[in-house]
Amino acid sequence: TLGPDVVDVGGLTGKGMFTYDPGFVSTASCESQITYIDGNNGILLHRGYPIEQLAEHSDYLETCYLLLYGELPTKAQKEEFVKTVTHHTMVHEQLAHFFNGFRRDSHPMAIMCGVVGALSAFYHDSLDITDDNNRQVAAFRLIAKMPTIAAMSYKFSIGQPFMYPDNSKGYAENFLHMMFGVPCEPSNVSPTLAKAMDRIFLLHADHEQNASTSTVRLAGSSGANPFACIAAGIAALWGPSHGGANEAVLEMLEEIGDVSRIDEFVARAKDKNDPFRLMGFGHRVYKNFDPRAKVMKEAADDVLAELGVDDPLLAVAKRLEEIALSDEYFISKKLYPNVDFYSGIILKAIGIPTSMFTVIFAVGRTVGWIAHWHEMISGSYRIGRPRQLYTGHTQRDYLPLDKR
Ligand code: ACO
Repeated sequence: TLGPDVVDVGGLTGKGMFTYDPGFVSTASCESQITYIDGNNGILLHRGYPIEQLAEHSDYLETCYLLLYGELPTKAQKEEFVKTVTHHTMVHEQLAHFFNGFRRDSHPMAIMCGVVGALSAFYHDSLDITDDNNRQVAAFRLIAKMPTIAAMSYKFSIGQPFMYPDNSKGYAENFLHMMFGVPCEPSNVSPTLAKAMDRIFLLHADHEQNASTSTVRLAGSSGANPFACIAAGIAALWGPSHGGANEAVLEMLEEIGDVSRIDEFVARAKDKNDPFRLMGFGHRVYKNFDPRAKVMKEAADDVLAELGVDDPLLAVAKRLEEIALSDEYFISKKLYPNVDFYSGIILKAIGIPTSMFTVIFAVGRTVGWIAHWHEMISGSYRIGRPRQLYTGHTQRDYLPLDKR
């Protein structure tokens, strides 16, 4: 029933089953063959392959192929795919001028929303989504150009010249080259850091119908072009409850500052009158350890050991993790550290500025967004149109200004 306070002005009654599910906690919006999650048992499979195996044996571009085409590539297919993606890493030169319209202190995610959406103004041949070849080229372009645009956002913010992609380098290595290289010096990207970066992209590649992916599907269901849909996904990702959490984790660790202050923040997280939450803890689907967090934690340990990083914030993070894992509140609510808790730590160790954390998530997630968009467009689908429970006024007559 609609309840005593709800008025049926939307014509909802008498039309069969109608569910009210705020936050879509128990409503499937589509069928999908891409990613499987068992949140109670901490399982994440891409096209059937466990994330742990992919993180150990595969790499980001191979995982992109798997997500897009449903199978791991043969050696020849992989070479061809890497070559094709690499071919598309440059952006239209005119796009570089677009950056000058932004303030230098813009958040890089704000720039990403604008510039990625603007790709539809440059690659007109990708706009006809009825053609499968066009859709594939759009996928190649997005996967290839996202690191370039991401690095340009950073370079713009610090006033350094843009670095062109160096297509002799691997995907993650090239990204770090564009982020930290300067034109007058030879580029020298550490293989350890390139591997860690690749793993971060891989671990973020897809996660079924999260807020940003659902946004991409919803935008796509109206027939919007792929660049516009991915820009919508980037906007949804930016929020601190989603991709913005990795940035928020670091800000929180900085705010805590010292191990001696952890108890105070844990108490605040438990206080229902305080809106503060421990960032990087909890997940809508995982009520057990996020399997990506396990891999990310190992990667964080490796990177920190190899780099010999000694950062006081890491001590805060480690202690926070211990407390949360043994505290009754967190145990009873099944609040485990999520992938963003550890990715922020690795990114900081690599030297990535905090404001770029969510951008890096967006780079990795692009393939998931495009795979879901492609899956939807290639099958039969309807425009997404959620309904609502109307709780506003019943019908009333307009009052002229002098009578109000
Ligand atoms: N710290 C303290 N308490 C928390 C936290 C947290 N991080 N997360 C959830 N809770 C509590 C809530 O207060 C709530 O308590 P109640 O039952 O007494 O009301 C209970 O746990 C359930 O929380 P919900 O908000 O209902 O859970 P939901 O599934 O809607 O939210 C979310 C999941 C958004 C991830 C939440 O756990 C959160 O805000 N975490 C911090 C932000 C974060 O790390 N986000 C990254 C998600 S992972 C990703 O995007 C890759």
